[in-house]
Amino acid sequence: TRDRSDTLRTPIVAVLGHVDHGKTSLLDKVRGSAVSEGEAGAITQHIGATAVPLDTISGIAGSLVDPDDFDLPGLLFIDTPGHHSFSTLRSRGGALADIAVLVVDVNDGFQPQTEEAIDILKRTGTPFIVAANKIDTTPGWNPQEGEPIQVTYEAQSDRARSRLDENLYEIIGQLSDAGFSADLYWRVQDFQANVGVVPVSAMTGEGVPDLLTVLMGLSQRYMKDQMTIDVEGPGAGTVLEVKEEKGFGTTLDVVIYDGTLREGDEIVVGGLHEPIVTEVRALLQPKPLAEIRTEKRFDRVDSVGAAAGVKIAAPDLEDAMAGAPVRVVRGRERDVVVADVESELAEIEVDTEEEGVVVKADTLGSLEAMANALLEAEVPILRAEVGDVAPRDVAVASTAAEADNQVILGFNVDVLKNAQRELEESDVRLFSDDVIYQLVEDYEEFVAERQR
Ligand code: GTP
Ligand code: MG
Repeated sequence: TRDRSDTLRTPIVAVLGHVDHGKTSLLDKVRGSAVSEGEAGAITQHIGATAVPLDTISGIAGSLVDPDDFDLPGLLFIDTPGHHSFSTLRSRGGALADIAVLVVDVNDGFQPQTEEAIDILKRTGTPFIVAANKIDTTPGWNPQEGEPIQVTYEAQSDRARSRLDENLYEIIGQLSDAGFSADLYWRVQDFQANVGVVPVSAMTGEGVPDLLTVLMGLSQRYMKDQMTIDVEGPGAGTVLEVKEEKGFGTTLDVVIYDGTLREGDEIVVGGLHEPIVTEVRALLQPKPLAEIRTEKRFDRVDSVGAAAGVKIAAPDLEDAMAGAPVRVVRGRERDVVVADVESELAEIEVDTEEEGVVVKADTLGSLEAMANALLEAEVPILRAEVGDVAPRDVAVASTAAEADNQVILGFNVDVLKNAQRELEESDVRLFSDDVIYQLVEDYEEFVAERQR
């Protein structure tokens, strides 16, 4: 018999949704519940991710989860935004998010970033469930701290229950409009054909046992094959963020989804211009919460096995891109690995034309999503790149023949100081937003306005 944790990795769960719908609160609740279950030490805070082991999940889920039914080690949650990177680079079976939780405020229903998340999930084929959050705000609600949804439902007045049901059916309708057949999770038989909706409250913890149970069940049932990895193999991951870190220079926050990454490993990372080949100087994990006030914020670790989040310190990372692949060379030809990274990047390269707008985005994943939205809106792209708006972008945009195209569309990016000056002195218009739909809509309005 195999040692189970040797070959089955933790599924990676991306938590997505509109601003303020409760993504972070939901993760906080999972962490907090673990603390109240006396499992505080079991939860590990990774760079950009939170690992929740199976025992902790079954502690929170109570009778809903019997650990003996599962052999996956737990769940690794990635909070967004900032981490749009998950949508990118699914080639070669390497996908950052194996599964996703779409958080929707039960009162607000679908909002622009919900739609955006749905588009990305659709495009990448990522299975997901919906957490219909904030059920405690239903008028007349009688909260049942940390209880499964069935217990909670039974404690509500008919009136409160039917108010919640109305909101839930609204969301189910919106999912159906978006092309997904959906239902309350306990009515779903086949989670591959239907999206399960789990009513939850990040505030009271109601429904959180159900949410964890459904995620665990889904992963176990449909993703075991994908989770089978050679932990000793060369590590593979995706860059979540490129960050300056005092004392370490430019570092990468990475999620490793395959194999192992070790200090001293030679790695290849997708860069703005070409793949970067470098050597891992240090692997850093955040200190446990209790120690966060000490001088050093990080612990150095020798190695990290999938799935996990880690910060990589290494030379020459300045041009690394969020969303780009990271590959350990170990035991292979360096050139082969470089070619691998190149071809993965080529797959998400955006088709550009002779005439069109300039697009800048913060990650490869968001650039890809932008390009798709523009393609749909029939807006041609002259140039598309990851990074802040630079003087060069203004120069390029000003070469567009049509005034409609003398435009830069920036998603989640800053404008460099000298670019700001050039913008003011040119006819180039900058549109920037952190919601793709909004960006496209603003631009379309501008074009319509001009043609009037
Ligand atoms: P962004 O990271 O900005 O996209 O937001 P988010 O989705 O992470 O939302 P966050 O968790 O920060 O919650 C936003 C607000 O909603 C906070 O004030 C939370 O306290 C509140 N909130 C979240 N979940 C619940 C809930 O279940 N019930 C109630 N009553 N409030 C909630
Ligand atoms: Mg948040």
